[in-house]
Amino acid sequence: MSTLKMAVLVSGGGTNLQAIIDGIAKKRIKNAEISVVISNNEHAYALTRAEAAGIPAIKLAPKTFDSRADFEKALKEVIDSFHVDLIVLAGCLVRIPEELIDAYPMKIINIHPALIPSFCGKGMYGLKPHEAALARGVKVTGATVHFVTKDLDAGPIILQKAVEVEEGDTPEILQRRVMEQAEWKIMPEAINLIAAGKVSVDENKTVHIAR
Ligand code: GRF
Repeated sequence: MSTLKMAVLVSGGGTNLQAIIDGIAKKRIKNAEISVVISNNEHAYALTRAEAAGIPAIKLAPKTFDSRADFEKALKEVIDSFHVDLIVLAGCLVRIPEELIDAYPMKIINIHPALIPSFCGKGMYGLKPHEAALARGVKVTGATVHFVTKDLDAGPIILQKAVEVEEGDTPEILQRRVMEQAEWKIMPEAINLIAAGKVSVDENKTVHIAR
């Protein structure tokens, strides 16, 4: 089987990117490589992580383009130029253009820091899902890796992992636990399964995993 080539899109610290880099290095992810890391935020520490790993790191900031359409065109052109098989959104705060979703059907995955369909959708990024989970008083939350479709956070679910909410949690503490116990595990695992050709989506948009 040929190597799965990925573009990883980031906006911030890049701990999920690091989990993927480490997963490849430690062979928890087999048969996959990161061809390029792209950030809309020129100050994203994720870019430093990419450079340290010898991966091409590209800054593509919407504000440096005349229009949103120009930015979206450039983003697609850069991704297309690397001939990738999978686009990974790892803490990417850019709204993904519809043209990109059309061009890469079931080839874009995202990590969301909650158990979808809870605490997802518009505005639910950063600390917000954790604040909402604590406000609702849920006893478990977690993370979800899903395919990206035109409906926000509503694409087929690939993997989920639950994480306990503990007495005295703040949004920051809960965010960290969800990352450590769920995100940094299921994102590399999902990529490994996709690279092994074990992930399929049926006509009801349900994901099946051949184990
Ligand atoms: C993570 O919580 C991820 O679930 C969300 O954004 C955050 C990114 O963190 N989509 P990092 O940049 O990977 O450290």
